[in-house]
Parts: sequence; C-alpha cells; structure tokens
Amino acid sequence: MKNIVILISGGGSNMAAIVRTSLRDDWARRFGAKVVAVVSNKASAPGLELARAHGLATAVVEHKAFAAAPDPRAAFDAELAKVVDGYEPALVVLAGFMRILTPGFVERYTGRMVNIHPSLLPAFAGLNTYQRALDAGCCFAGATVHQVITELDHGPILGQAVVPVLPGDTAQILAARVLTQEHLLYPRVIADLLQKL
Ligand code: GAR
Repeated sequence: MKNIVILISGGGSNMAAIVRTSLRDDWARRFGAKVVAVVSNKASAPGLELARAHGLATAVVEHKAFAAAPDPRAAFDAELAKVVDGYEPALVVLAGFMRILTPGFVERYTGRMVNIHPSLLPAFAGLNTYQRALDAGCCFAGATVHQVITELDHGPILGQAVVPVLPGDTAQILAARVLTQEHLLYPRVIADLLQKL
C-alpha cells in the first residue's frame, strides 16, 4: 500500500477534500494508496478533529516545543521526520502546513512531497497572496500544486486552478473562491501522481 501522510496547520479543508476523494474514487483499489495519517504542528488545528472524524490516525509535533533548542527549526524537523516516517509514507502532502522546512527535511522526501500554494506560481510566493494579487490589479488568481524543493514555494508545477478576480473582491472573498478550486485541484493532482509513484 502507498501510504499518504498529510501535514496541516489549520482548518484542514484540503486534507478533508483529499480524504473524501480518495474514498469516493477508491484510491485503495485503483492506485493501492490511502491516506493513513494527518500530522499537525499545532494541537489546536481544527483539521485534526476532522481527521479523527474520518477515522484517521493523527499526531501533533508542536514547533513551539523546540523554541529553546540550539537550532529550533532543525530540531523540529528532525522530530517531524521521525513521526512522519513512522507512517512509512510513499507521499507527503502539505495542505496548509505553515512552517518553512529545512533543506534536510525537504531532501529526505525529494520527489514524494507536494504542496498547495494559493497563487498562480511563480507569482506571489510567500504570504498574503490574495491581497497582493488584488493590489497588483490581477484579472486572475488561483492556486498551484508543486513538488517541494528547498526554495520556498518553488518546484516543478504539477497543476494549477485559475479563478477570475471580480469587481468588489476583498482578500477574503477571493480566498474563498480560490479555496473551492483547491478542493478540486489537489485531489486530482495527487491521483495523477499516484499513478506514477
Ligand atoms: C489553503 O488556501 C492553502 O493553499 C494555503 O493555506 C490554506 C489552507 O487551508 N497554504 C498556504 O498558504 C501555504 N503557503 P485548509 O487548511 O483549509 O486546507
């Protein structure tokens, strides 16, 4: 079985969309793959409850617990890798996971870790993507799924979803429009990838 481990920090709506699609489309039979666990860097992430409701294993590695380490990021990533590896992942899926990962962590999962970013990369890497798209006067916005490489929000693009920017849009309204498309895009791209893994 190709195990999928999903990393979240917040609401987990992309995670839930992936889990729902994997069950509806029977990824176990079609690709020999299934979501086995959801890992968060925040115990308070609402997505953890959603994951438990789907009967999934969950784990928390609090990044704050490593603040006093000589190299907090490296210490957090080492513990995160230990927990993730415990689920023997064929694919690691970052779904609203809001931590910058160290090169060591990224290289450990090269070619088998993907991320979704709420912009049409290479435009607007980083934070506040919706407001930046509005400020730039963009006519379109969207989301990108990409392979994760050591450079933040870069890496081979696996798929994109495009939405229009409409008169009167606020960052919040635009975010909601993009998120709806993320829920269709991310499961589709992962299904494509599973056929090749
Ligand atoms: C999504 O919009 C995702 O693209 C974004 O966080 C949101 C998570 O929502 N990710 C990033 O900004 C990563 N840099 P969710 O927790 O409901 O899936």
